[in-house]
Amino acid sequence: MSEFTDRVEASLTRITKLVFPQDTNHIHTLYGGTALQWMDEVGFLVATRFSRQKVVTVSMDRVDFKVPIPEGSIIELVGKVTRVGTSSMTIRIQLFREDMFLGGQELAVSAEMVFVAVGDDNKPTPLSVHDN
Ligand SMILES: CC(C)(COP(=O)(O)OP(=O)(O)OC[C@H]1O[C@@H](n2cnc3c(N)ncnc32)[C@H](O)[C@@H]1OP(=O)(O)O)[C@@H](O)C(=O)NCCC(=O)NCCS
Repeated sequence: MSEFTDRVEASLTRITKLVFPQDTNHIHTLYGGTALQWMDEVGFLVATRFSRQKVVTVSMDRVDFKVPIPEGSIIELVGKVTRVGTSSMTIRIQLFREDMFLGGQELAVSAEMVFVAVGDDNKPTPLSVHDN
């Protein structure tokens, strides 16, 4: 396996959470803003693990909320690098819902996010992955 493929695999990140009442909206399903915060968190972890550099979020593309996620659901967020540019990385984020008692996983939310490596001046800096 190449160094690049190794880094992509090693930076794949999964976060498992339980949807508590404070995470929900007025109809007792996961609040969209909370889902976006968790997606940003998993994306940030992937970009940091992949680059081992300081990164910031620059973009989140169209986000599809495919099915509601009831309070009490288990959710799993999965983030993976899908593209690497000079200073930017695209991360595919998927959020799966899982019933606490029935199990099974269903894709509930998906998005692509872009993170950029920045230097001490907070300006874009080339990814050091290109040095390897
Ligand atoms: C991220 C930031 C440093 C980029 O600065 P910039 O001057 O726009 O950067 P550039 O135009 O030189 O582009 C740098 C890279 O970002 C990519 N990029 C910039 N804007 C983008 C956007 N809206 N969507 C996708 N990629 C983008 C460019 O394609 C380029 O990628 P490459 O180096 O792989 O070719 C700047 O926009 C910024 O500070 N934004 C605020 C970040 C922030 O506060 N995030 C929330 C908290 S983490």
